[in-house]
Parts: sequence; C-alpha cells; structure tokens
Amino acid sequence: MHISDKTKYIGVNDERDVLFEGQYRVPNGISYNSYLIDDERLAVLDTVDAHFVDEWLAKLSAELGGREPDYLVVHHVEPDHSAGIGRFAEKYPNAKIVASQKAFAMMKSFYGDDFADRRIVAAEGSELSLGEHKLTFITAPMVHWPEVIVSYESSEAILFSADGFGAFGVPDEGCTAWDDEARRYYIGIVGKYGANVQALLRKAAALDIGKICPLHGPVLEGERVAHCVKLYDLWSRYEAECDETVIAYASVYGNTKRAALRLGDELTARGRSVKLYDLSYCDKAEAVAEAFKADKLVLASVTYNADVFPPMREFINALTERNFKNRRLALIENGSWGPTAAKVMRAMLADSKELSFADTAVTLRSALDDESLASIIRLADELATR
Ligand code: FEO
Repeated sequence: MHISDKTKYIGVNDERDVLFEGQYRVPNGISYNSYLIDDERLAVLDTVDAHFVDEWLAKLSAELGGREPDYLVVHHVEPDHSAGIGRFAEKYPNAKIVASQKAFAMMKSFYGDDFADRRIVAAEGSELSLGEHKLTFITAPMVHWPEVIVSYESSEAILFSADGFGAFGVPDEGCTAWDDEARRYYIGIVGKYGANVQALLRKAAALDIGKICPLHGPVLEGERVAHCVKLYDLWSRYEAECDETVIAYASVYGNTKRAALRLGDELTARGRSVKLYDLSYCDKAEAVAEAFKADKLVLASVTYNADVFPPMREFINALTERNFKNRRLALIENGSWGPTAAKVMRAMLADSKELSFADTAVTLRSALDDESLASIIRLADELATR
C-alpha cells in the first residue's frame, strides 16, 4: 500500500488457514498493519503478530536503509499488534517506546517489560514532533481495549486509528469488500463498545481527516473516509443500515428450515429484501453482522431439551453480548410435544433494549401444516408492512 513518500506501509499479510482470535474465519486473510513515518526523527507505528515479526523487521530494516528509528508508537497492546515490541527494543536499543500509561502496564503483563528507562507516556492531547510531521495522541478506551490510543498526524491529515476502521481481508487498493469485511470485524470484535466508539467519533469530528490508517485492512482515503465514518456512526449507535429481514434458523431435520425458507419466499414475493442463515452451517460472525445491518430479524428454532437448539443459543448470545437492540423481531418455534423455543428466545432477549416483537406467533408441531403455514403468511404480511 502506498501512503505517501514520507509515510510508509510496513505491515504484513496473514493468509494462514486459521481462525483470527480463535473464532473468526478469515477466508480473505487479515493484515497486521504497521507504518513508518520518515522525517527528521523516525517513528515506527505498531508491530505485528508473533508469526510475522521476522518479516516485519526485515521490511522495517529495508525502509530504514541503515538508519535507526527514534520511536516505536504502540497504539494497542493486543498481541496481534504488540508481539514485535521486544525484538524491536532489542534491535534498536536507543529507540523510545511511546504508549499510554495503561499500555505500559499491559506490556509488563504480557512481555515482562514496561520499558521504564525508555518510555514516553502518551496522554490525551499530548504530542510527538518528528520534524514536519507531528503526532497528536487521542485516547480511545475500549476501542477495543482500555489502553488504546489513536494518533492524528497533522501535516498529512492522517488518523492512525488502531483497531478502529479495521477490516478482515488483506488490503486491496479498491477496498472492494470493505463494508462487509469491516462490518464483520467491527460487530464481532468492537460491537459491544458502541458508546466508546461514539466518544472517539466525537473527537475525530474535530479533525480534518484525509486518510485513515488502521491496524487491519486497507488504508482509507478520499470519499471512502466519509463513507466509512458514516457506517461506524450507524454501527456504534446500533442503527440498521437497510430495510432488510435476516432469517436465522436452527433446524434438526429440516422442518424448521422449511418454515424459514417459506417465510423468506413470502417476504421476497412481497418485495422485501431477505437473507437466510442456517446457524448450524453458516459463518456465525457473518450472520451476527448481517443481523446488525438489517432492520428486522426472524429467529426460527426447534425446541431442544426444553430449550432452543444449541446453535440458536450461541447466536442469540453473540447478539446480546454485543448489545443488540433497536430492531424488529419475530419468532418461529418448532416442538413435537412441548414447544418452548419461542419462550426461551424471548427470555434470552429480555434485557435487550428497544426491541419490538411481531404480533404473529408461529408454532410448528413437528412440520408445517395448514395452520402453521397460515401463520407464516400472516407473519410475512406483518413484516412486509412494519
Ligand atoms: Fe487487532 Fe484489538 O487487536
């Protein structure tokens, strides 16, 4: 990625077949971004995941061309960005480490060193002058950990945004999949902390931002900056992006699935946009992200051990952990002798705010019959209108 003659990208791409943070599929890979600001004084911004420290140090060394960096700025201590701090500190013993107070405490916990003899503590509004370039630090607690800072470089109008505005997928110049990959990343990883993201957006609104350089995914510039900030504002206010119904179903023998698909067909026939997710097989992070994107959500589950089917339980937990709210919901339950899934799903969502439930209840007794089909059609009529 080319940023400018003075701000260089020295990040790495992780295209191993692994789950990011042990739970997120990344079929398009993920990047650990790092940057070098090349001015009278040289500042390296963040390191990379432990598997890529050699590659990163080699890239850094090539850019330095025999020079020594003056600073390593650590915006975030989560190990996908901080695993190279120790090796960097050994290799460049004169470089100062710049981070928040909390970040140094975390470095001690993770790596046994808080760099007391070579640290610069970054606080809200503090500055680091590099020559023509100047970094101003902005605290961003819980976006996505408490120690996080972001920094604004005024001469090039760049916001170094830490995990904020990050995306799954290795960077591509056209940012072709940014909305979907950033939404899945944001909702999955930062989604719980909407109020903190709103606080950061308020601070960022005072800045003239030409480019955003996050710790994952592509650098954002031009018209994309406003577009991405607008999406972040929607996501962090828990507002829907579009008029769409997500139908998430958990089915054992296919009968609950048939009901879900039939509802989808009925809604489509009424001109509504629908997305269906089979919770036993789909990428749950995508289903969760799409549930936050849409304005309506239908949950369809078979009753299982007087509870919901486990994939549905996991899905609803993933929603409520991320403060899912402000949506219209409908429930479909199935149960051959004692259907309780709707009651359980409603109870699981009892603490979620600003949910409104459709009036039409749909209960299957094993399989669709005339009565349950009629209720599916009534539910489609209801969801198509409000
Ligand atoms: Fe990409 Fe919160 O670390």
